[in-house]
Amino acid sequence: MSDRLFIFDTTLRDGEQVPGCQLNTVEKIQVAKALETLGVDVIEAGFPVSSPGDFNSVIEISKAVTWPTICALTRAVQKDIEVAAESLQYAKRKRIHTGIGTSDFHIKHKFNSNREEIIERAVAAVKYARRFVDDIEFYAEDAGRTDNEYLARVIEAVIKAGATVVNIPDTTGYCLPDEYGAKIKYLTDHVSNIDKAIISTHCHNDLGMATANTMSGILNGARQAEVTINGIGERAGNTALEEITMILKSHHEIKIGTNINTQKIYPVSRMVSSLMNMPVQPNKAVVGRNAFAHSSGIHQDGVLKNMETYEIIDPRDVGIDDNSIVLTARSGRAALKHRFSVLGVELSQDKLDEIYGQFLKLADRKKDINDDDILVLAGANRSQNRRIKIEYLQVTSGVGVRSVASLGLNVAGEKFEAVASGNGPVDAAIKALKKIIDRHMTLKEFTIQAISKGSDDMGKVHMQVEYNDQMYYGFGANTDIIAASVEAYIDCINKFVK
Ligand code: KIV
Ligand code: ZN
Repeated sequence: MSDRLFIFDTTLRDGEQVPGCQLNTVEKIQVAKALETLGVDVIEAGFPVSSPGDFNSVIEISKAVTWPTICALTRAVQKDIEVAAESLQYAKRKRIHTGIGTSDFHIKHKFNSNREEIIERAVAAVKYARRFVDDIEFYAEDAGRTDNEYLARVIEAVIKAGATVVNIPDTTGYCLPDEYGAKIKYLTDHVSNIDKAIISTHCHNDLGMATANTMSGILNGARQAEVTINGIGERAGNTALEEITMILKSHHEIKIGTNINTQKIYPVSRMVSSLMNMPVQPNKAVVGRNAFAHSSGIHQDGVLKNMETYEIIDPRDVGIDDNSIVLTARSGRAALKHRFSVLGVELSQDKLDEIYGQFLKLADRKKDINDDDILVLAGANRSQNRRIKIEYLQVTSGVGVRSVASLGLNVAGEKFEAVASGNGPVDAAIKALKKIIDRHMTLKEFTIQAISKGSDDMGKVHMQVEYNDQMYYGFGANTDIIAASVEAYIDCINKFVK
């Protein structure tokens, strides 16, 4: 391998910004440790000035991981930079990621400023950040829509001021691959001191071109790629780590390698999806449930004769191990613990005992327990300290009759009951719930997803409820889809009831 691409993971910053994907500090540490095992070079751990929670997470992640550089985001504002520097105090390797919008659109509408003043602010921010750390990354927000000649002037100035990495974000996901690649080439050719910094790509997927744009940037000289696990991120998401890594691994002729241990890709993907309650689309490249499933007879025949007939990636190279997913009611704690550790989840003995009890109950209802099921159990375990819990739920429904639900809730230790009829079982159950918890809530989104296959499968429900002009996201998982729906609704309510 003649050249090296640095992988900058922003799952915990750009990814975590997605509504409904917020993690607590313990969960962020879990993801950060998994990213370290995966082999990423840089972990963007948060935007410390944005909230005490983000600040604290950067501190704790810095303590918890050893090898990757820990990066904290700031605006080109002194206070942000001071707070970021403080949050990085325990990091063994640290980086401040500061920047400002450079497109005429940002300059005029966001800053009510002009091009020269923006260069001055960018330079001042980099110089100020250099007082605290040596490794400074500068981002030119909306670089995708920034005029190349002006962008080159900005980049030259910030490198002169001490930036060691220059990030060229396609913030809106607008660029075409040729255009983005040409932008990187333009900077390589026209920034006189470009050899003193690494060029980084940061692409969004609004038009489905994030991976193509990132590859085009790499092929034109970028040597850092900013990515997230499963491509999660604002709006349509960011470039997916697993896609860039596997493209470079599969296309030997490109001769650019990464430090990623690809066999950890699938477990980390499952962990992030489960902790963030963000399902991976079944046909998602590399990590989707169907990515290696061949249904047509011709394909199956071909793959059985020689895997390479239709598969360009060996599933084992990304950590998919078909023999591993058999957990049943007869599996012991050791088997469950082993499976969790393969998935990157380390549990204390107490936690394991607790989850094992739930695992046995689930195994009574469901024949084979898969990775998603146990990750959901670990997730359910995290949210047990909530104020409102279901005591019981019974629903009768059928064709030609109205559904009726009786629901018992435990609200902070007090028991409440209600019965309601509705237009279908979920409607009846939610109406019963609303009789007990009487608030002006509006259901805005309701998604049901079966985790894998089989009529005894777990169902996952994602919900969005509006209350007091604010949106709350909830999640529920149960072999009973009506119960999962009520759990998801309660998860929303638990986020705003005091
Ligand atoms: O998309 C973007 O421009 C960003 C920057 C803050 C790096 O996320
Ligand atoms: Zn971004």
